[in-house]
Amino acid sequence: MAKDVIVALDFDSKEKTMDFLDKFNEEIFVKVGMELFYKEGPEIVRELKKRGHKIFLDLKLHDIPNTVKNATKSLMNLETDMINYHIAGGEEMLSESVIEAKKINENIITLGITMLTSTSDEMMHESILIKDDLSVEDTVLSYAKTGKKSGLSGVVCSALEVPVIKKELGEDFITVTPGIRLKGSNTNDQKRVVTPSDARSLGSDYIVVGRPITKSDNPVESYHEIKKMFLGL
Ligand code: C5P
Repeated sequence: MAKDVIVALDFDSKEKTMDFLDKFNEEIFVKVGMELFYKEGPEIVRELKKRGHKIFLDLKLHDIPNTVKNATKSLMNLETDMINYHIAGGEEMLSESVIEAKKINENIITLGITMLTSTSDEMMHESILIKDDLSVEDTVLSYAKTGKKSGLSGVVCSALEVPVIKKELGEDFITVTPGIRLKGSNTNDQKRVVTPSDARSLGSDYIVVGRPITKSDNPVESYHEIKKMFLGL
């Protein structure tokens, strides 16, 4: 299965995004999230496509099934490579959306959000009100099972949960893992973090990396350093 580093383009303007990408002499896999998409609209995705980048459109859709299915149909015009949903939206919302997406592009990777990597065990019980006897890992696995049953290609989770997901749901069920940090660096708001090399040993298919690359003094060098560690080169 393809393994790659996806760079999170968490910028607040097209100008900053393009300035960042101009430093690279290659077509990297990028993630467009809410910050950039809500500011610049669908046009930014078309522009990135034109430049040859693979795109993960990270809008974390979550609403009633009919709305999410129709939103999926609208987003499919953008010809992105990955889209995602909150698994908490339920089986009907997920399966109807996957069917809609695959009608337009059978190769699209549809992902489900399990538990955000910014959520700690304590937060999960206190503010998300998950029962005390369920660990983050149990909760993530239960979400992942719903995701697989609904036809998703895989999930977004912490690399720490990859071994149990692969064991229970199979090697082909894709795992995309944010919360990546180099040893000794600032974890920012992320709680469940791992290094690129650990993500590799744990079996992640894709790692999503934002600030360790975008805020680096030399983003291209950091990108290549992280990619080498992740691919074990
Ligand atoms: O800067 P950093 O490497 O923490 O960025 C991680 C990126 O991954 C952000 O764009 C964030 O929205 C995204 N993400 C995440 N946790 C998830 C899903 C997506 O951190 N569960």
